[in-house]
Amino acid sequence: MKLLEGKAVLVTGAGGGIGRDFALAMAAAGASVLVNDIGTSVKGEGSDAGPAQKVADEINDRFGGSGARAIANTDSVAQWESANNIVKTAVEAFGRLDVVVNNAGILRDRFFFNMSVEEWRAVIDVHLNGSFYVARAAAPHFKSQESGCYIHMTSTSGLVGNLGQANYSAAKLGIVGLSKSIALDMAKYHVRSNCIAPFAWSRMIGSIPTETEDQKERVAKLKSLETAKIAPLAVFLSSDFSRDISGQIFAVRANEIFLMSQNRPLRSVHRAEGWTPETIAQHAIPSLRAHFYALERSQDVFSWDPA
Ligand code: NAI
Repeated sequence: MKLLEGKAVLVTGAGGGIGRDFALAMAAAGASVLVNDIGTSVKGEGSDAGPAQKVADEINDRFGGSGARAIANTDSVAQWESANNIVKTAVEAFGRLDVVVNNAGILRDRFFFNMSVEEWRAVIDVHLNGSFYVARAAAPHFKSQESGCYIHMTSTSGLVGNLGQANYSAAKLGIVGLSKSIALDMAKYHVRSNCIAPFAWSRMIGSIPTETEDQKERVAKLKSLETAKIAPLAVFLSSDFSRDISGQIFAVRANEIFLMSQNRPLRSVHRAEGWTPETIAQHAIPSLRAHFYALERSQDVFSWDPA
């Protein structure tokens, strides 16, 4: 029996990039797959029914005979009503839903001081609000069947930091909080929720500006990172192998898998009589400063070449 035999999976943004490889790998593992994608540009402009249908057709051509089947859906994750329709379509087609992968995404990179309200909202709507909408729409099914698995795509742009991505970093770190909250709130219904921060060469990464030598060098390295390398972890997290794994943040970069840290107190200082701004400067900060984090970006932390 295949690992995901009998399971129904919904992958948002599965018309290309990492999501397409998730959909293919889930189907190869025996799952029925709803391939959602509005077929928009990296910036989230326009729509095209083609990419989702193409991936669904590919799955049915390759795996249809073995019992796996795929359907395409082109609703946007970024509105409550259409997000509900994605879940409804999956449940109606497959009669159940076992896994929701929140993968759809766009980028509107801009330095913070130039970022427009529209650029902020568009990115928050697709990533953070979209992840909430789709997850929330699936929650009653997961709750009533007393099982379910959420996988949310986060990013080291949020976990660590990156230039020119205030909207994206805020959304991706917000998704980490959303995932942890779902993991806590739904544990009693045996529903699990985990995050994956991928590193993979996709059109999204291809949109990174390469003006400086530093940027050119960084993007050249990213080109070797295959989107398909992220899928095995997603299939594992969807399977019964991971029935006791929830509330975690993983990262995948080619053949490396990382467990990412989560915030805990690092060090504390205490003064029985309380603090003044002066004693904070004289006593607290000298003691805490040794543990301050540098203003690092993702590439400073993941500074070695991918293995
Ligand atoms: P991609 O641009 O190839 O795929 C994203 C897909 O989402 C596209 O096919 C797009 O049409 C779809 N989409 C956009 N807005 C949508 C909406 N409102 N409703 C439904 N679908 C929508 O990008 P990639 O790289 O495959 O990204 C997948 C996920 O992984 C994203 O959440 C991204 O933020 C995340 N990620 C990717 C990294 C990488 O190295 N490629 C790094 C960190 C995070």
